[in-house]
Amino acid sequence: MPATVVVGCQWGDEGKGKIVDVLAAESDLVARFQGGSNAGHTVIVGDRKYVFHMLPSGVLHEGSRNLLGNGVVVDVLALVGEIEGLEKEGIDVMGRLLLSEQAHVILPIHCALDSAGEESGTETKIGTTKRGIGLAYGDKSRRKGLRLCDFRHADRFAAQYRDLSEYHGRIMKTLYGTDAPNPEEGLERLMASRDRVTALLCDGVTLVNDLLKAGKNVLCEGAQGVMLDIDHGTYPFVTSSSPTPGGACTGLGIPPTAVERVIGIVKAYTTRVGEGPMPTELHGDAGERLRKAGGEFGATTGRPRRCGWFDAPVVRRAVQICGCTELCITKLDVLDEYETIPVCTAYDTESGRANVMPFDPESIAQAKPVLEDHEGWNSRTSGVTTREGLPEKALRYLARLEELAGAPIGIVSTGPARASTIPFARS
Ligand code: GDP
Ligand code: IMO
Ligand code: MG
Repeated sequence: MPATVVVGCQWGDEGKGKIVDVLAAESDLVARFQGGSNAGHTVIVGDRKYVFHMLPSGVLHEGSRNLLGNGVVVDVLALVGEIEGLEKEGIDVMGRLLLSEQAHVILPIHCALDSAGEESGTETKIGTTKRGIGLAYGDKSRRKGLRLCDFRHADRFAAQYRDLSEYHGRIMKTLYGTDAPNPEEGLERLMASRDRVTALLCDGVTLVNDLLKAGKNVLCEGAQGVMLDIDHGTYPFVTSSSPTPGGACTGLGIPPTAVERVIGIVKAYTTRVGEGPMPTELHGDAGERLRKAGGEFGATTGRPRRCGWFDAPVVRRAVQICGCTELCITKLDVLDEYETIPVCTAYDTESGRANVMPFDPESIAQAKPVLEDHEGWNSRTSGVTTREGLPEKALRYLARLEELAGAPIGIVSTGPARASTIPFARS
């Protein structure tokens, strides 16, 4: 039962979209299992750049099948916008996409309340994407959420929608003194998408499990990254879902025994968007240099990403939780012009050496990165497609990352294009 799970092993934006698109060519189904339109997954085909927030990253392959699993929270308006955008280019997304009927719906009021909370100045700012993620998962946990299957029953949908809009609208007015957007406008727009949604609904659990039983390849696409996991990340500066292989099992309804391969996507350095601790963050010119070299601006919000050196305690924690059978190191080429590349091997804390990211915010705040310098290769790896084509010093850097992370490297990415990908079998 060959399921492959792709997970981000840092704070998101590791290059999952590119790798999922590459692996989709040999997959029978690409299935997103958590998160919502907070994701921004970039896929480059030729000179065209696509950024998917809701659509699975396999959708550009002709004849592909893609699923939004039950663990995803679906911003229906964003989804339909993406479908229509691709249709204008002649891509038949409706023929390639299915939606799990149990997936929950992100409502306009969720987005409005997320923004109001972030902008209030009275609450801890998480630096969310303002896409209503925490509110939609919150309604799911309160057992009040609307699911995609509810679209089939327009009257019930409308009644529950109005109740939820009123409930959150009252909170918004009371806590932040702001008026909620007109709920009827939102309802009208959602209802205009109803036919599209209902046409794509399916029992995603049976779909995936039947494929697995038939020995087909199912590629499970994670969004975000382990450091943003609701349980294991740098809480409270996290998202509201579980971007781990465990999240893939619950988010698609597949047994853990179905997962054969776990690919942990790891940037050759570290980035983070939003608030929260980041022990290897570089400030000033050093941070700016890395941001510029890596083009590190958020694919969803356009915010500049915070940049820093590779952080082994972060990746080790992710490997521990995910059981990565292999790592994919992305953006190696971004380091091409560095004379020296520091790497954080552990943290020094008041209670001693920490080899994995601590959970307690006070311990993280104290953590001082233990840095080790690596000689840069100072030559072009950008676009290199073979292991042999990489300079010796880059291979040494990769070998050290592998050793520090405690998982073998299976893929190296040397550019955003499909072809800039090295299958990294060890010699
Ligand atoms: P995701 O959220 O994990 O899918 O990652 P994003 O798409 O948000 O951010 C990754 C960015 O890096 C995108 O702009 C990609 O096109 C780009 N990218 C992916 N892999 C590579 C690589 O190996 N080298 C370079 N230079 N860019 C890459
Ligand atoms: P992809 O899939 C990077 C961050 C936000 C914020 C925190 C909570 O492209 O890797 P949320 O809107 O989820 O409530 O925000 O999580 N965040 C991401 N950072 N990449 C992402 O997705 C992210 N999705 C959420 O910046 O700090
Ligand atoms: Mg992204």
